Amino acid sequence: MQAALHPARPEPLQTAGLPQAWREPPSRARLDQAIAAALAAVARNAVHFGEYFPKPSSTGGVYPAMDNTEWTNGFWTGMLWLAYELSGKPEFRGVAETHVASFDRRQRERIATNHHDLGFLYSLSCVAGHKLTGSEQARTAALGAAELLLERYYPGAGIIQAWGDLNDPAQRGRMIIDCNLNLPLLYWASETSGDLRFRDAANRHIEQAARHIVRTDGSTYHTFFFDADNGQPREGKTHQGYSDDSCWARGQAWGIAGFPLVARHNGDTRLLELGKVLANYYLNRLPADGICYWDLIFTDGPEERDSSAAAVAACGLLELASRLPLLDPLRAEYERAAAGMVLTLSEHYFNHDGAPGAGLLRHAVYHKPNRIGVDESCIWGDYFYLEALTRLSRIWEPYW
Ligand code: GLY
Ligand code: GLY
Repeated sequence: MQAALHPARPEPLQTAGLPQAWREPPSRARLDQAIAAALAAVARNAVHFGEYFPKPSSTGGVYPAMDNTEWTNGFWTGMLWLAYELSGKPEFRGVAETHVASFDRRQRERIATNHHDLGFLYSLSCVAGHKLTGSEQARTAALGAAELLLERYYPGAGIIQAWGDLNDPAQRGRMIIDCNLNLPLLYWASETSGDLRFRDAANRHIEQAARHIVRTDGSTYHTFFFDADNGQPREGKTHQGYSDDSCWARGQAWGIAGFPLVARHNGDTRLLELGKVLANYYLNRLPADGICYWDLIFTDGPEERDSSAAAVAACGLLELASRLPLLDPLRAEYERAAAGMVLTLSEHYFNHDGAPGAGLLRHAVYHKPNRIGVDESCIWGDYFYLEALTRLSRIWEPYW
């Protein structure tokens, strides 16, 4: 019997507080309509961006184009792979393959790789490309990225540093909840190469995240500092949330998605229990239409929603539900909530604008405290919306 990871137990889920409309079974016709609209937007933007990428967030609803130098570029390539799987159309694959070559060069030449988001970047571009086409270039590039990610691991503290140079005093020893989604790259690297260094680092990091970034009430810090050398926990701080003791909605969503995705790789069912803790905290703090505000401290009023956090959470709930026993009553509740969330996004947040470069989901927030991408589209929101539609409509093997 393993030691408990975390003392928190899930809050009872307040199902009466969730939108009434979510109790209806999702209709296949509505889902198919949502998928068709999303695929039309991806097809339009594949022609528009070509070998370039959308910026992390839109301006006036339209993404400016950029080179492959941000932490977010993999989301767009991931959307092309999903569109290829959903439609079978070779034009999506063709553009995604030009991106794989760009990601290969990026890791070889270390272009803007001095951060932990290598998992977001390479799982969705190169691991996906390898899984779908068998490309050796994609596999080699993703393994190279996993090596770069491992350079950020402190064995003494058992954590991967999120941002900046390892000797930067402002960043040294900082882990962030978002990193949960970067760990699947490390597990994949061990699975494909037989080299267990990647898996061992990921196992240590996820335990530190479980113990320290999750608070006793089931909410999460965005970021947490450790002494990088001896691993002493120091303090939790926000970066993109309202305050150090509030709960940044997307951080909570990264946790809902990330703990179960890691459990898929390492089989630690304690991470599923923790997923329930985070999921119930999140679901119990939604406004009337079920799409979260940018920080869960807000449950009504004029603050902005973060549709991108809702899309991440929907995928997380579906991943978590898929790992729970059939007799767990939360399993059906999470599936219902995820399907309801996705259909609400498609009916009330989808951008029908049709302009070249336009985002898919309106009303997301990138960084409210720094006033970046507030009430705009965010490319990860669009990615997870399409991943959620994929998960709802077919049996799907994650790229994670
Ligand atoms: N500001 C969030 C990030 O770059 O990961
Ligand atoms: N990973 C940075 C963000 O969610 O904005």
